[in-house]
Amino acid sequence: MSRIMVALGSPREESNTKLLAQIMSEAATNAGAEVETVDAARMAIGPCTACFGCDKSGKFECVIEDDMKPLYAKFPNVDVLVLATPVYWYGPTAQIKAFMDRLYACVRFNAETHGFDTCFPEGMKMAALITAGGDAFDGADLIVNMIRHAAQGIGFGYAGTLLAARCTGPDAIRGNAALMQQARDFGRSLA
Ligand SMILES: Cc1cc2nc3c(=O)[nH]c(=O)nc-3n(C[C@H](O)[C@H](O)[C@H](O)COP(=O)(O)O)c2cc1C
Repeated sequence: MSRIMVALGSPREESNTKLLAQIMSEAATNAGAEVETVDAARMAIGPCTACFGCDKSGKFECVIEDDMKPLYAKFPNVDVLVLATPVYWYGPTAQIKAFMDRLYACVRFNAETHGFDTCFPEGMKMAALITAGGDAFDGADLIVNMIRHAAQGIGFGYAGTLLAARCTGPDAIRGNAALMQQARDFGRSLA
């Protein structure tokens, strides 16, 4: 059974993304997965400053002292990392992008193997959970591509996408039985 980390990127309390992630996580837990949710939008996670302190230290962690720091010790126990974000201006929120950029410290190119060394377990996969006010091609598609390419480019797997288009408020999710079922199925597929 998988160990799943869900990184939440919406700054809103009444968040479509958070609600959808909860439904997905509950199903994954019921299917036997261990799920930990990290509310990245409520943590102090600054942007990468390209200091390459991670490369210099040889450790798979960033040298910036903020709320990202304790997460590095958890990553070796994460089989599936779900990046959960609303679409903001045809991309992910700044909060989830900062979280992603800080994962730079977890991956290092190995000139001998021409592959990447990482602190994540072998076979680790990323996944995307996206909510959008528009339709699937008003930016959500770009985030899917970004996360999928990022994962595959550094040798991780891609576990799939849960995309909820035309979300204006949480009722758009609670009132959509098919979407909630899709979220449960997605959670089970990650478990
Ligand atoms: C600043 C901002 C920019 C947005 N940009 C887009 C966009 O480019 N495309 C889109 O489909 N929805 C866009 N939306 C709508 C949100 O993605 C959508 O309402 C989402 O479900 C909000 O998720 P949340 O409730 O988890 O915060 C935007 C919303 C905000 C606040």
